[in-house]
Amino acid sequence: MDNLASLRDQILSSVAEAATLEDLDQVRVSVLGKKGQLTSMMKSLGGLAPDERRERGQALNAVKDDVATAIDARKISMETEALNAKLATEQVDITLPPRPEAAGTIHPISQTMDEILAIFSQMGFTVAEGPEIETDFNNFTALNIPEDHPARQMHDTFYLPEQEDGSRYVLRTHTSPVQVRTMLGQKPPIRIIAPGRTYRCDSDMTHTPMFHQVEGLVIDKATHFGHLKGCLLEFIETYFEVSNVPVRYRPSFFPFTEPSAEVDIGCSRKNGELRIGEGDDWLEILGCGMVHPNVLTACGLDPNEYQGFAFGMGIERIAMLKYGIPDLRTFFDADLRWLKHYGFVPLDVPTVTGGLSR
Ligand code: PHE
Repeated sequence: MDNLASLRDQILSSVAEAATLEDLDQVRVSVLGKKGQLTSMMKSLGGLAPDERRERGQALNAVKDDVATAIDARKISMETEALNAKLATEQVDITLPPRPEAAGTIHPISQTMDEILAIFSQMGFTVAEGPEIETDFNNFTALNIPEDHPARQMHDTFYLPEQEDGSRYVLRTHTSPVQVRTMLGQKPPIRIIAPGRTYRCDSDMTHTPMFHQVEGLVIDKATHFGHLKGCLLEFIETYFEVSNVPVRYRPSFFPFTEPSAEVDIGCSRKNGELRIGEGDDWLEILGCGMVHPNVLTACGLDPNEYQGFAFGMGIERIAMLKYGIPDLRTFFDADLRWLKHYGFVPLDVPTVTGGLSR
């Protein structure tokens, strides 16, 4: 027994003396490993008489437990020490000032979208969204554009591969499918504004295959064209930050509205400078109309009970007009010099009361 106690003390002191993790592991292997001291002593128990074997076995197990516990504890304390030493040498000086040239700006598209949403939410609209990959039904059929309608060609649609049942998903060509989703999903009164990306297979000075639109929809029992005009006038004056803008409703055609109109605002183009709100020239800014009865029916609403208006506009276009950006394609060049010039300060969130753009 005595020599077992001194063996235990001896092993524990070599555990305490181990200077590195490798040393400690060597101690472990030499004591507890396959050919270790304690392991071979356990193996030799077989030769003893049963009583003696039990007693000796228990004593050996106790020593083994003590040793294993001591090794674990030593290991944890060595690792903690090593980590603390490493942390002490790896300090980061967080007092360094940020590099001013790395400051980001808000893209004019995001800014314009935020401005539009600020204005319409002030008027009681809620924001609605829909997916960019749409069903043919939501993008066309429900909007009174049947299979063979020429408007399908007008839209230069990107079609996805045909499904097993012959139907095709499309990249939405306008935000109008959000109207359909909203009417199918909720009962009037409806007052929504839906911004988002749209796609058409078209690319030149004034068209990019991906662009942004914002859609408005109001449905109730007695909503009429006068409401549409008042709502858009309020929007135009707030957005362009000028009062008494001349506004003209030019008769037009959209399959999903009847009557339909395109909206022009007064401007002047003297000396190559565009000024909104004065002069004798006109600028087209959006399309609108009273929701077609066929659209209401396709969306499960009774046209004898409900009516309303819708409008849609291109976000890039009205951003270009307000901020004097001459070329559409530069919006998507990700040119840092352009972003720095046309971008907005991140913390100046547009609000109707606090100012839209500063
Ligand atoms: N969806 C139409 C377009 O993309 C715009 C529009 C929306 C017109 C709603 C009328 C009403 O051209």
